[in-house]
Amino acid sequence: MRGVKRELLGFHATPDRVVRALAGRLVRAWESGKGDKSKLVQIADLFAGDGRLGREVSRRLRDRGWRVSVTFVEVDPGRFRGVAAQGGERWIVADALKWKSSSLFDLVVANPPYLRLTVKRARRLGISWLDALAAGRNLYGLGALRCFELCRHGGVVGAVGPFGWTRGHDSQVFRRRLSGLASQLSVTGYSNRSLFAGVHQDIGLAVGTRGFVEGGGTIRVNILSGPNSNVVPISAGGKSGGFTVRCGSVVWNRFRGELGVAGKGMLPLVFGGNIRPDGRVRFAEIRYVGRQYVRQSALREGEVLRGPCLLIRRVMRGRPGAWHVDCGILGAGRAVAAENHVILVTSAAALSVRQWNEIAASLKDRIERCFRTSGQPTLSTRGIAALAALVRNPAWKRPTRRAA
Ligand SMILES: C[S@@+](CC[C@H](N)C(=O)[O-])C[C@H]1O[C@@H](n2cnc3c(N)ncnc32)[C@H](O)[C@@H]1O
Repeated sequence: MRGVKRELLGFHATPDRVVRALAGRLVRAWESGKGDKSKLVQIADLFAGDGRLGREVSRRLRDRGWRVSVTFVEVDPGRFRGVAAQGGERWIVADALKWKSSSLFDLVVANPPYLRLTVKRARRLGISWLDALAAGRNLYGLGALRCFELCRHGGVVGAVGPFGWTRGHDSQVFRRRLSGLASQLSVTGYSNRSLFAGVHQDIGLAVGTRGFVEGGGTIRVNILSGPNSNVVPISAGGKSGGFTVRCGSVVWNRFRGELGVAGKGMLPLVFGGNIRPDGRVRFAEIRYVGRQYVRQSALREGEVLRGPCLLIRRVMRGRPGAWHVDCGILGAGRAVAAENHVILVTSAAALSVRQWNEIAASLKDRIERCFRTSGQPTLSTRGIAALAALVRNPAWKRPTRRAA
């Protein structure tokens, strides 16, 4: 990490109210376990910046009669220049992802750097692409895994960060890795996506216990402003149950030369914005004039979609805690192609429009209930496939062991 440009270190100072909220939760989780106040509580603040998180946690524990020592680890020495070290503190300039500690900690607190990893960025940071994938392609994931690795069994970890990973398809391997390190996690998401100055993204507080339970632990996801609570396995997967769920294949700006207006050999192209909140698929959207049709000869076999089937707009409307999903039925006999902001739900067996309407209502309800605790508006095909498996497909019979 040395010599790496500062903008790649993902510095965002944690606002005071978030520092207080995380410290409060972490101390409560710590005290809910059996406590022996005669023992020293060893705390680590990884990716420490000026150490505000570690200091708040240690101040609260001291006030409640605990003896503490705190180790701060930060790669950029400029971050804690001018901070006067106090008794019981150890300040270490090191790469927290590689730093070797002689012992594990009782409590680990962090606001790990948030940075989306591309192949190029990972290379510049000295991170293998396999590690980046296992961390949901974000420095945050690597940081969160590191927090658990440096925490002793039964100890508690508290981290500030996004919570889109509790659902996102890109984070599946990350969740699996996490399920081997955390016995349970409680994630509280803010519905406000602008908590950090100059940043617009989902922010949550994750507090979990280091441990392992056979079959994997669970994540309890809660949105602060709402009454919602969802409990999901840490490493959730997906299966489809008689439906096929996939994304539209046309990436409009790569197909630019093949798009245009209605004419011979041209097929309507469904953009996300063509699926309206009232459940209709409407092709007269002014923003798509000039690119609402795609040349059929440019499409491969299987890219032409025939109704009836269900179309879902991949980006939800609303905010964490109250997301709304737009879905519409493509009419019987209609042939279209779909852009990649549209999720397509099809069934191998023929279903009527009425049956599709019932499926759409049930699936929409499940998606809105399940994804309401999502930090990001984007739906994943995996997530939808897992929910579609719970919806009754009138034409589908679960394969028997013999038939399979
Ligand atoms: C999001 S900021 C949080 C700073 C501080 N903990 C706070 O809550 O205000 C992340 C910090 O991690 C530091 N950092 C980034 N990569 C690091 C690494 N590999 N090892 C240690 N620190 C790192 C950055 O310099 C930055 O200070």
